[in-house]
Amino acid sequence: MKLLIASRNPHKLTEIRAIFNLPGMEIVGAHEIEGLPEVIEDGRTFQANAVKKAVSLAMLTKLWTLADDSGLEVEALNGEPGVCSARFAGEPANYVANNVKLLNLLENNEHRAARFICVVALSSPNGRAQIVEGICQGRILCESRGEQGFGYDPLFMPDNYEQTFAQMDAALKNQISHRAMALKRAMQTWSELLGQSAADWPARRTKRKIFEKD
Ligand code: IMP
Repeated sequence: MKLLIASRNPHKLTEIRAIFNLPGMEIVGAHEIEGLPEVIEDGRTFQANAVKKAVSLAMLTKLWTLADDSGLEVEALNGEPGVCSARFAGEPANYVANNVKLLNLLENNEHRAARFICVVALSSPNGRAQIVEGICQGRILCESRGEQGFGYDPLFMPDNYEQTFAQMDAALKNQISHRAMALKRAMQTWSELLGQSAADWPARRTKRKIFEKD
């Protein structure tokens, strides 16, 4: 069956292809289908944004569609930057400016616990979605360390490691990251369904919440 990924980011597509390598599954990125619109991420939660992206493109293409939304939540900032992670320091989105703002807000603050969150939504062609989540707990350092990765990676040190995400080998980050956790959970939860080329979610009652289109 064909699974559409609601992303044009080649790194995300590679990561998803590596995890979702089910027999007979063809994974296509949003850029591979002509005329698909950019879905605006204007939700107040990661869940709302991931569901909106998955449902919008699933209903347009009539394909099972997977979408993700992710970001950083800092405890001392009551969960900010949260869904505003990409544009924390304003438009246009800028990683360096975001990191400077974060460091300034946490100056002289010893409480530096933070977590990366990733929500993955899967929508049926009829626009009914389920979600799974992945979390990576850690803390924000007082200065940048490392050159790899993107976004808040140079400031984020995951619990039980002595390197920031930006100092880590990409392969290690991709094993422990919030996105890896969410994608692995997605695979465990939905692989059977996707392997069957089903037309919609099974009719039997499920413990998982289904987000219906409005
Ligand atoms: P998106 O889910 O790809 O739209 O991510 C939104 C924003 O969250 C990014 O622009 C980054 O600022 C931040 N972010 C998400 N995942 C990561 C990560 O793995 N490392 C660093 N920053 C991240």
